Amino acid sequence: MSSASKLRGKKILLGVTGCIAAYKACNLVRDLIKAGAEVRVILTPSALSFVTPLTLSTLSKNKVIVDVLPKSQGGDYEASPWHIEYGIWADIMLVAPASINTVAKITHGFADNALTTLVTALRSPLLVCPAADLDMYQYSVTQENLNTLRKRGVYVLEAETGELASGLSGIGRFPENGKIIDAVYTILRGNKLDLEGKKVLVTAGPTYEDIDPVRYLGNRSSGKMGFEIAKAAYLRGASVTLISGPSNQTAYPEIKRINVRSAAQMKNAVESEIADNEVLIMSAAVADFTPKAASTQKIKKGGTAPVIELDFTEDILSSLSKTGKFVVGFALETENEVENASKKLERKRLDLIVLNSLNEAGAGFENDTNAITILDKSGEKIRHNLSSKSEIAHIILDRIAVLD
Ligand SMILES: Cc1cc2nc3c(=O)[nH]c(=O)nc-3n(C[C@H](O)[C@H](O)[C@H](O)COP(=O)(O)O)c2cc1C
Repeated sequence: MSSASKLRGKKILLGVTGCIAAYKACNLVRDLIKAGAEVRVILTPSALSFVTPLTLSTLSKNKVIVDVLPKSQGGDYEASPWHIEYGIWADIMLVAPASINTVAKITHGFADNALTTLVTALRSPLLVCPAADLDMYQYSVTQENLNTLRKRGVYVLEAETGELASGLSGIGRFPENGKIIDAVYTILRGNKLDLEGKKVLVTAGPTYEDIDPVRYLGNRSSGKMGFEIAKAAYLRGASVTLISGPSNQTAYPEIKRINVRSAAQMKNAVESEIADNEVLIMSAAVADFTPKAASTQKIKKGGTAPVIELDFTEDILSSLSKTGKFVVGFALETENEVENASKKLERKRLDLIVLNSLNEAGAGFENDTNAITILDKSGEKIRHNLSSKSEIAHIILDRIAVLD
C-alpha cells in the first residue's frame, strides 16, 4: 500500500472552524483526496472569514455545507435532514482546525451551527485537531474541555509547539497534514490510544563506521521502518524515544530524537535510555564490523590500494540489562531466513523477532513497503504479506499493545 492509497475508499467529513490555520484545511483536503479518501466539508460561519466555500468545494469536488437550515426560497422548502445522512455516511469526522470555541461547544453538546449539529448526529469516530494562540490553547477551561473529549473517546491530536501566527511562540500550531492523515489511518484501524502510558524506545536507520574523515562503511537502511514504528507508537499514545543513525526521515516533534552515527554511539545511547523505557524495538541496521582505526587524515590515492582491517562492533543487546523490558529485534537474512532468525531470537533472549524478507520485491531496505514474519519465544511464526511500512509498524505494535 503506497501513501496514495492509505485512505482508499474512506469517507471523511472535514469540519473547518474560524481559526487562522483554516487556510491549511485547503491543502488538507487535497492531501486526504490524494490518499484516496472522499471528502465532504462543513464550515462554521466564522470560518467564512478565513476560507471560501468555493475553494473548498472545488478542491473536495463536493458541495460545502455552511447553513444548518435550508434558506427560504419564496416560501418553498426542500426538507433535507442532511446532517443525519452525513452522520451515517462518514467513516470518520475531522474537525481541523478546531477553534477553542468549537471545542467548547462540542464538549457541551451544542448543535447551533452545521458543524456542531453534525457532531451530535455522528455515528463514526471523531478526530479533533485544536489550533489556537498559546494562551487560548492553555486556558484551563480549554484544557478541561479537551480532557473531557478524550475521556469520551474523541481522539484529540495535540497541537504542536512553535512559532504562531500572532508572532508569539508556544503550543497551538496546527500539525502537518502527514501527521493528521497518519492519525486518521490509526483511528480507522481501530487503535486510538491503546499504547497510552507505555514508554517505547525505538532504534532506526543505518550506522556509519568511519574509515577516514571523508569515507565510511554504511548500509542500505533508510530508517523508514523505524520511523514508522516510532510515529505509529506516538499516535497510539506511547511516549517515544527514537535513536536514529544517519537518515533523512522525519519524525514528529513530540518524539524525543537522539541522532547517532556509529554502532558504538548507538550502543551508548541505547544503554543510557533503556532504563526509562519498558519496550525496546531495535529496528536499526547496526554495523557488524568497524575499521580497527579510522585514519585522522584522508587516505591518499596512489601507490598500493589500502587494506582496511576490521573489528567486530560490540553487540548492543548482549550487554544490555533487559530485566523487565519487552525487547523486539529485527533480522535480515539472505539464506535459511526463518531458522537463522529463530536462533537469533534465542541467542539474544528477545521477546519477538521481526524477520525482514530480502527475497521479495518491494520488501526490505529503502522501500515504502515491507513483508515480514514475526517469531516469538513460544515458537509461533506469523507471516505478514507485503504492506506499507506504516501498516507493518502497526502490526508489530499490535503485539505490544496486548501486554499488561
Ligand atoms: C484573525 C483571527 C484569527 C483567529 N484564530 C483563531 C485560532 O487560531 N483559534 C481559535 O480558537 N480561535 C481563533 N480566532 C477566534 C475565533 O475566530 C472565534 O473564537 C470564533 O468565535 C470561532 O468560531 P467558530 O468556532 O464557530 O468557528 C481568531 C480570530 C481572529 C480575528
